[in-house]
Amino acid sequence: MTARVALVSGGTGGIGTAIVKRLTSLGHKVATNYRDEAKANAWAAHMKAQGVNVAIVPGDVGDVSAAESIVKAVEHKLGPIDILVNNAGITRDTTFHKMSALQWQEVINTNLNSCFNMTRPVIDGMRNRKWGRIIQISSINGQKGQYGQANYAASKAGMHGFTISLAQENAKFGITVNTVSPGYVATEMVMAVPEDVRAKIAAQIPIGRLGDPDEVAYAVAFFTNDEARWITGANLAINGGQYMGW
Ligand code: CAA
Repeated sequence: MTARVALVSGGTGGIGTAIVKRLTSLGHKVATNYRDEAKANAWAAHMKAQGVNVAIVPGDVGDVSAAESIVKAVEHKLGPIDILVNNAGITRDTTFHKMSALQWQEVINTNLNSCFNMTRPVIDGMRNRKWGRIIQISSINGQKGQYGQANYAASKAGMHGFTISLAQENAKFGITVNTVSPGYVATEMVMAVPEDVRAKIAAQIPIGRLGDPDEVAYAVAFFTNDEARWITGANLAINGGQYMGW
C-alpha cells in the first residue's frame, strides 16, 4: 500500500477518531482540524499515548478562508493532500415548525458548505497529480429523512449530490469521490438523542445494536485503497440494516 497524506475533517469526534486511527494504522500521514484548542491538544496527547501520530491544525471548516488555511497548514506539515474525508458535522435537532434560521444555517454551513470549502483548495493538486480520494461522511438520515432533522437530512442528502457531480468531473484524473452513509453509531452525537427516542430507533436496527465507529472507518479505508479505483460516485450504507434503499 502506498503511503498517502490524508486530511480528515472533524477528526476529534467519534467517527472521525476511528477514521484517523485506521488511516494511520495503514501507514498514511494523517491530519485533522480543530476549533477548540484545549480539547484538541488533550485528544492528540491521548492519540499519541496509543501510538497514533496525527497532525492537528486550527480552523473551522464552515469558513471559506479558515478552510483554505487548514489545507495550507496541513500541506506545509505533511505534503500535498491525497485523501480528503469530509467528516465534520453537527446536529441542531428540532421539528421544522420550531426551527430557527440559525439552526438551519449552522447545520447547512458546517455539514454541506464545508464540502466546498475543504475540497476546493485540494482539487487542483489532486487533478495535477492524477490521484485522489474524496469521501463524504453523510448519514442514513440523508437517505430516508428523519423526524426532527429537516436541516441535517437536507445537508446530508446534499453531500451525496456533491459526491456524484464531483465523481463525474474528476473521473479522468484518477480521483474517486464516494459517500459513506452511517446509521446510528454509538458516538456523543447519537447519545445526545433523548434515551426513550434512542431506544425506539435502536429497536429498528435488524442487527440489533448501534454501530461501532470503527465499522464506519473500515469502509472509509476501503475507498482509499488503490484497488478501489473503479468505484466512484457510490453511496455505501453502513447502518446495521436499518435502511436498505437502493
Ligand atoms: N415519527 C412520528 N412522530 C414522532 C417521531 C417520529 N419519528 N418522533 C417524535 N414524534 C412525535 C412524538 O411522539 C410527539 O408526539 P405527540 O405530541 O403526539 O405526543 C411529538 O412528535 C413531539 O414533537 P415536538 O415537536 O414536541 O418535538 P420535541 O421538541 O419533543 O422533539 C425531536 C422532537 C427533537 C425530533 C426528538 O424527538 C428527537 O430528538 N428525535 C431524534 C432525532 C434524531 O434521530 N436525531 C439523530 C441525531 S444523531 C445523528 O444525526 C447521526 C446520524 O447521522 C444518524
